[in-house]
Amino acid sequence: MGAGIAWKRRSGRASKPVTVMYCMGSGLGFVLGSVSAAQADNKALGQFLASECTTCHQLSGESTGGIPPITGWPKSQFIAVLRSYRAKERDNEVMQTIAGRLSDDEIAALAAFFEDLGKK
Ligand code: HEC
Repeated sequence: MGAGIAWKRRSGRASKPVTVMYCMGSGLGFVLGSVSAAQADNKALGQFLASECTTCHQLSGESTGGIPPITGWPKSQFIAVLRSYRAKERDNEVMQTIAGRLSDDEIAALAAFFEDLGKK
């Protein structure tokens, strides 16, 4: 799947626990809204969640206006950083708020997606 092309296909985040079926190019369907441990490392989920991140962070991996690149990081490092924002050990109000809304599974999915994005 060509990273960076399909990501724009977003549909507003479900605010109620409605069931949204997604059909990805691979024919894989999954149910959003009941995000659970089964979806750890799920790049499709990562891609979906990443649309929030990429309003600031560049998909291209460039840094812009003080916003650091987050693509191509080793998963373990990416996960550690987001967890430390979530725990407010790492200082940055914006990222603390964003990470505070993410579950471990969602962080893992984002880590998988952004790691892959860095691989050309
Ligand atoms: C409103 C803008 C904004 C959004 C949205 C945003 N970030 Fe950030 N992010 C920042 C800024 C600014 C920093 C630099 C913070 C600092 O200096 O500590 C940062 C830092 C980071 C870092 C650490 C980078 C480094 O080099 O230390 C990671 C990882 C990260 N963001 C991931 C994410 C993820 C994943 C999302 C989506 C869930 C996201 N960000 C959404 C603005 C944003």
